[in-house]
Amino acid sequence: MQNPTPSSSTLYTILTITTLLFLLLFFFSFPSSPRPPSFSDPYLFPHRPSTTQYHNHQLLFVNNNKTTDQSPPASPTIAYFISGSSNDSARIIRLLLCVYHPRNQYLLHLDRSAPQKERDFLALTVQSIAVIWAAQNVNVIGKSDLVSPKGSSSISSTLHGAAVLLKLSPDWDWFINLSAADYPLVTQDDLLHILSYLPKDLNFVNHTSYIGWKESRILKPVVVDPGLYLAEPSEIFYGTQRRPLPDAYRLFTGSPTSILSRKFVEFCILGTENLPRTLLMYLSNSLSSQSIYFPTVLCNSPQLNKTAVNHNLQYSAYDTKSQPRALDSHDFDDLINSGSAFGSLFLHDDPVLDLIDQKLLNRGQGQPVPGGWCLGGSNDEACTIWGDADVLKPGAGAKRLEQLMVELLSSETLNSHQCIFE
Ligand SMILES: *[C@@H]1O[C@H](CO)[C@@H](O)[C@H](O)[C@H]1NC(C)=O
Ligand SMILES: *[C@@H]1O[C@H](CO)[C@@H](O)[C@H](O)[C@H]1NC(C)=O
Ligand SMILES: *[C@@H]1O[C@H](CO)[C@@H](O)[C@H](O)[C@H]1NC(C)=O
Ligand SMILES: *[C@@H]1O[C@H](CO)[C@@H](O)[C@H](O)[C@H]1NC(C)=O
Ligand SMILES: *[C@@H]1O[C@H](CO)[C@@H](O)[C@H](O)[C@H]1NC(C)=O
Repeated sequence: MQNPTPSSSTLYTILTITTLLFLLLFFFSFPSSPRPPSFSDPYLFPHRPSTTQYHNHQLLFVNNNKTTDQSPPASPTIAYFISGSSNDSARIIRLLLCVYHPRNQYLLHLDRSAPQKERDFLALTVQSIAVIWAAQNVNVIGKSDLVSPKGSSSISSTLHGAAVLLKLSPDWDWFINLSAADYPLVTQDDLLHILSYLPKDLNFVNHTSYIGWKESRILKPVVVDPGLYLAEPSEIFYGTQRRPLPDAYRLFTGSPTSILSRKFVEFCILGTENLPRTLLMYLSNSLSSQSIYFPTVLCNSPQLNKTAVNHNLQYSAYDTKSQPRALDSHDFDDLINSGSAFGSLFLHDDPVLDLIDQKLLNRGQGQPVPGGWCLGGSNDEACTIWGDADVLKPGAGAKRLEQLMVELLSSETLNSHQCIFE
């Protein structure tokens, strides 16, 4: 199924992004602006062949042509899809810097409630960060999707992001879907280091077949998400009829954020099984379908159900309602003790984020988290000298995550929590 030439729709999206970027760069370029980099920066990627020609359109697909016989690097790579809405561009940039690593792939999406001005700001800011400019691994979706948080347009947007990431790079191993309200609790070096010990087909997805009160409140009403067919945002439309629960497969619910293997993402987007598609059609008229889609496909597929780990490596706290509450400085100890890789949800510029930057990520304001690739810098910029991006320097976060992983993957825990029918 590997097709070296991108399909026209992806090409269209990519062209839109690059055209936008280049138009903007044209307008904002100054005589002193840096020369565009070669695709593979020789300092960050000494083992990749470096191309000296800079071709804006080919650039994004250079990786698709498997012309190198070099064996893939041992440590894994993650593809991040980071989405937000209006007024989220500053948070997305902060989150991007916190989860940035030159080896990974990033796709940023501001949904249609955000003005184009914000999307332009996001694209320009990303390109102004030297290491990102050199590694060329961050893309911004130029033609945004309309997303209603409760409706099924949010699954469609996530699958869109995953499909673009599959096209952008043949190399990544895991897909992580984050929102602007999430924040990491370990460095990328910690996370990549721990993931490098694991089988690459594991999926970290919270799931339960216990539906409870959600059954009638969420699953039985028939709703229509205008995000699927109207150009302007509007309210979800509730039908008067209710429908029974499906019996052709068993529904599982979980949390929207998950860490999915590339194999599973390909199964959902490119696979030959029909369940990923029939479920999508069923969910197009359901509420909160984004917390159902991935857990249900995973647990109903015999070839994948043994790869499910019932934890998304994310810490959230709940108050009396079933909605996660905002985390603040009082939660800091719990965040650390959870051993999780991410926390959710945080308010815009909450002081606890500064605490996390300082104590857990060792990150200076406005700068990426230093990793093994960062060999040194100046007083106001921590990383101006770059080294091999394949070298990881895990720290205390790796120890915390390792402990959680040992617990989760011990055979009793793994099997007694895996796709259990209650
Ligand atoms: C892909 O690789 C083949 C040789 O393996 C080469 O002929 C072709 O031009 C390459 N395509 C691109 C887009 O670089
Ligand atoms: C919008 O973002 C700014 C910071 O970028 C923040 O100070 C402000 O509170 C936000 N406004 C709303 C309505 O969320
Ligand atoms: C992806 O993550 C965002 C933020 O957590 C969430 O709103 C969205 O529903 C998720 N999508 C899916 C399909 O899980
Ligand atoms: C996975 O699916 C197979 C076939 O349906 C089933 O026999 C097995 O019990 C399932 N495993 C788990 C962990 O659900
Ligand atoms: C996911 O599951 C784990 C383990 O059951 C739990 O600690 C965590 O709070 C759950 N996360 C969410 C977002 O529900």
